[in-house]
Amino acid sequence: MDYVYGPGRNHLFVPGPVNIPEQVTRAMNRNNEDYRSPAIPALTKTLLEDVKKIFKTTSGTPFLIPTTGTGAWESALTNTLSPGDRIVSFLIGQFSLLWIDQQQRLNFKVDVVESDWGQGANLEVLASKIAEDKAHTIKAICIVHNETATGVTNNLATVRKILDHYQHPALFLVDGVSSICALDFRMDEWGIDVALTGSQKALSLPTGMGLICASPKALEATKTAKSVRVFFDWNDYLKFYKMGTYWPYTPSIQLLYGLRTALDLIFEEGLDNVIARHGRLAKATRLAVEAWGLKNCTQKEEWFSDTVTAVVVPPYIDSSEIVKRAWKRYNLSLGLGLNKVAGKVFRIGHLGNLNEVQLLYMYVFMLVFLNIYGHFARL
Ligand SMILES: Cc1ncc(COP(=O)(O)O)c(C=O)c1O
Repeated sequence: MDYVYGPGRNHLFVPGPVNIPEQVTRAMNRNNEDYRSPAIPALTKTLLEDVKKIFKTTSGTPFLIPTTGTGAWESALTNTLSPGDRIVSFLIGQFSLLWIDQQQRLNFKVDVVESDWGQGANLEVLASKIAEDKAHTIKAICIVHNETATGVTNNLATVRKILDHYQHPALFLVDGVSSICALDFRMDEWGIDVALTGSQKALSLPTGMGLICASPKALEATKTAKSVRVFFDWNDYLKFYKMGTYWPYTPSIQLLYGLRTALDLIFEEGLDNVIARHGRLAKATRLAVEAWGLKNCTQKEEWFSDTVTAVVVPPYIDSSEIVKRAWKRYNLSLGLGLNKVAGKVFRIGHLGNLNEVQLLYMYVFMLVFLNIYGHFARL
C-alpha cells in the first residue's frame, strides 16, 4: 500500500538538506532579538572566530551571509572578479554546471573543462592551460570540491601544486558546499582564496546561511574587482566588523544560535573525528552498494566521495521510481538523479548529523526493496 507520506518519521538520506540535531533545533527555538543589542555582536564574534576552524584557516576572513550555496557562489565571484575576466571552470555534474551557468551570466569568459559525469575534474587540461598562459590572462580557477550530483571529490591539493609549479597568480575559488565539515578541507594549506559552503549541508543546520571565507589575496582583489555587487558586497560586512557591530543588515538570530550549537557539537566530537566518521560511513555505503549488486556512478576510487554515493541502477528501470516508492511507502528520502544522470542513478547522502545505526536501517530498507521488487525487475 502507498501513502502520501509513509508512516513513521521521515528518514532523510538526500545529500542536503540533512538531519538537524535535536540540540540545534532546541537552540534555535527562541524569540527574535534585537541584533543591535550587545548580545548578538558578542555571539557573532565567537562564530566568526570558530567558523575559521572548519575551513582550516587562520588567515581567512569569514562572512556569514543570509543566502544559500548559490548566493555564496555569487559573492565569491562578484567580490573578486570583473566582467570579461577569463576563468577556468570544470564541468563534471549538475552543480558544477549550475555554477558555470552563473559565471557565464555574470559575463565572465569561462574556459569550460568538461569530463564525463562520474569522473573528476580534468587537471591535466588545467596544467596545460596554466603552462600556456604566460601572460596570466586566467584570473581564477573555479572548482567544486565535491560534486553532489555524481558523488565525485576533486583533488584540491593538486590544483594548488599546478598553480605553484607555474607560479601562476590565478585566484583559487572553491565550492565546498558538500565537503566542508565532512571531508578533509584545508583552506590555508591548499592556498584557497575563496571557500564557501551552505548551512544545510554538513553543518546540519536549516537552509539560509552561506558561509564564505576569503584569503588576504581575495580581499585585496575586491579593491579592483568591478563586478556589480550590492547585497553580497564583502566591504559592507568589513565596515561593520570594524565597528564591532558585525551586521550590515538583519541576520537570522535563530540561525546564529543554531550555528553556535552546531559548531560546539562538531568541536566536542572533534573535527578530525567528524571527518573520520564520514570516511567510515561512506566506505560502508560503498560496500553495501556492491553487496546489493549495484554500481557506483563514480568511475575511479581516487574520486570516491565520502558525503554522497550516486548508485547506478540497471538500464531497464527508471531510478526516480525507486526514489518515489521509497518515499511513499517508507517515508524515506533518497536523492534523485539530476540532469544527464536523471533516471540512471539515485543518490544516498551520508553527511552531517548521521551515525551507523541510521545508515544500517537505510541498508535494510534497500534489501527489503530489492526483495519486494525482485531486484527492480517488478518495478
Ligand atoms: C556542490 C553544491 N554546490 C552548490 C549547491 C547549491 O546550493 P544551494 O541549493 O544551497 O543554493 C549545491 C546544492 O546542493 C551543491 O551540492
